[in-house]
Amino acid sequence: MAHLLVTGGAGFIGANFVRRALAAYPDGRLTVLDALTYAGNRANLAEVADRIRFVHGNVCDADLVDGLVRDADVVVHFAAESHVDYSLQDPRPFLSSNVEGTFVLLEAVRRHDRRLHHISTDEVFGSLPLDGAERFTEESRYDPSSPYSATKAAADMLVRAWVRAYGVRATLSYCTNNYGPYQNVEKFLPRQITNVLRGRRPRLYGTGENVREWTHVDDHNDAILRIIADGRVGETYLIGSDAQWSNRALLELTMSLLGRPVDEFDVVPDRPGHDLRYATDSTKIRRELGWRPRHTDLADGIADTIDWYRRNEWWWGPQKDATEARYADIGR
Ligand code: NAD
Ligand code: TYD
Repeated sequence: MAHLLVTGGAGFIGANFVRRALAAYPDGRLTVLDALTYAGNRANLAEVADRIRFVHGNVCDADLVDGLVRDADVVVHFAAESHVDYSLQDPRPFLSSNVEGTFVLLEAVRRHDRRLHHISTDEVFGSLPLDGAERFTEESRYDPSSPYSATKAAADMLVRAWVRAYGVRATLSYCTNNYGPYQNVEKFLPRQITNVLRGRRPRLYGTGENVREWTHVDDHNDAILRIIADGRVGETYLIGSDAQWSNRALLELTMSLLGRPVDEFDVVPDRPGHDLRYATDSTKIRRELGWRPRHTDLADGIADTIDWYRRNEWWWGPQKDATEARYADIGR
């Protein structure tokens, strides 16, 4: 396999991707570039540490990025500030990592004519009405609601422009909400699971009617591997499992899998500008690249995830109090 450069490879999806890519291509070369923000953790890569090169650095560092891109064949760009609630509290780092970081990477990819796969999110398309059947497609209009999704949308626009203007060989994918091992405890499922494991009550925002589509992180990463192998340059691909659940229903399912009464949670003030519903039509990647999710039973996937958090308190324990202190500041 080619030499892969993975930005953000010490984060949740990136670290799972690194393990998956090495399993798929045992002889592959792989370099991770990660700034090790609060969300990056070298422990996420401990099992594969001797098979990769790890570079501690920022994707905005043009000299560093230039050398790493020159040495690689394919760049997979996960590095980003990723949490909506934090973006509402302090947007600045999102501008820098998500927008400027993507710009710096694009310039290096352009100079050295390297293949790029850019990781985006279905959140760039904004909010669907709660009561309709409409789903996002690759043709949906960009309409981001939060500083997080606005900066991801801006990064996507740069990628699309660099493809058109400079012929950069890039593909782009928008996945739905991911779940699985090594997800930061700030996100919905790990926050609720670790709250229960710590004897705290889960926290549901607002009415809890908001709908998200839940894709297992390994299914997301398999889709990315398919796009890198056979995706058409310049194309965009939606990645989604079709498992659309309201936050309330998902929390009730999670509580029952944890063996707790399903209504043992607190309702807290809603997130400002909270997108009502995300849902994707991922026909294109299924037809063109033969991808389909393997984790089709969400209850099974969540049970496995709960099991992972039960067994790995050493991993999430040290982050938990600081995360909840930050939520206390936000009021959620
Ligand atoms: P994460 O916050 O867990 O990890 C992000 C990683 O990027 C961390 O290791 C962090 O240290 C690193 N990073 C941040 N800024 C950096 C910088 N300036 N330079 C170098 N490294 C930097 O995020 P995640 O959930 O793994 O998301 C990864 C990507 O997938 C993001 O681009 C995100 O927008 C996208 N995405 C996430 C989801 C989801 O459900 N989590 C869904 C769709 C798309
Ligand atoms: P999150 O994991 O932050 O992902 P995103 O905002 O990118 O979709 O949140 C998923 C959903 O869960 C979102 O609708 C907000 C809601 N939520 C809660 O109800 N309680 C919580 O404690 C958190 C973190 C999120």
